[in-house]
Amino acid sequence: MSTAEVLLQVRNLATGYGDIRAVWDVSLTVRAGEMTVLLGRNGAGKTTTLRAISGLNKADSGSIEFAGEDVTGMPPHRRVTAGMALVQEGKRIFRRRTIEENLLLGGYTRGLGKRALEREVSDVYQLFPALADRKHVTSGQLSGGQQQMLAIGQALMSKPKLLMLDEPSGGLAPAIVAEVMATVAGLKETGIGILLVEQAVAASLAVADRVTVLDVGRVLLDKPAAEITDTEVLTEAYLGRGSTS
Ligand SMILES: Nc1ncnc2c1ncn2[C@@H]1O[C@H](COP(=O)(O)OP(=O)(O)O)[C@@H](O)[C@H]1O
Ligand SMILES: [Mg+2]
Repeated sequence: MSTAEVLLQVRNLATGYGDIRAVWDVSLTVRAGEMTVLLGRNGAGKTTTLRAISGLNKADSGSIEFAGEDVTGMPPHRRVTAGMALVQEGKRIFRRRTIEENLLLGGYTRGLGKRALEREVSDVYQLFPALADRKHVTSGQLSGGQQQMLAIGQALMSKPKLLMLDEPSGGLAPAIVAEVMATVAGLKETGIGILLVEQAVAASLAVADRVTVLDVGRVLLDKPAAEITDTEVLTEAYLGRGSTS
């Protein structure tokens, strides 16, 4: 068992969209400096779970405890201030702006002052040297992998305690998936907790500390990644797919 401090504790979460319930009963844990990977077939409720943790969807029941505080009813912007960051699916960056402008915008929207902004930007460049080399390049010209790094860098501009990522490897070539995973895994060393939603099962299990599998808005499996010895068995049993990626 990990002894690291629990950063995020979701208990019996139920949420959805108006009258449509998408998540029935989800509990999961993320510890500081560790990664929990959230798996499940399409429509299982992974994105909805991240949205509820971020406050974009209201919890109909259950609770969300973050950094020792009950945030269940807290508005989204206050959760950002408290240290949550969400990288939504699909590399949401400003393609006509440069890398540097995108990073600065990531800080502006979170109300950082100029000094703090400059410091944060240089921290992001240290983590992603490839971005530093191309800071004045228009973001639309970057490769898919670099755009994903930029989206992650933008989220890091708030110095989060918890980074949530929704399918960061989506649409990327396999070699790039490995690079993105390695980068994300490296962030654990900074002490932040990571909640990663992925389709790339084998690649994400290789760097995860804990695994939670959802189906139809409920938890099918929740255990330390080290106890998952056979990725193929997991994939076939819970994800309804014969092969891993
Ligand atoms: N904006 C929405 N309005 C209504 N239902 C939605 C909306 N977004 C997702 N859903 C439904 O909620 C369920 C869970 O979706 P989602 O959380 O996106 O799953 P996943 O990310 O695991 O693929 C699905 O049945 C989906 O159709
Ligand atoms: Mg999704």
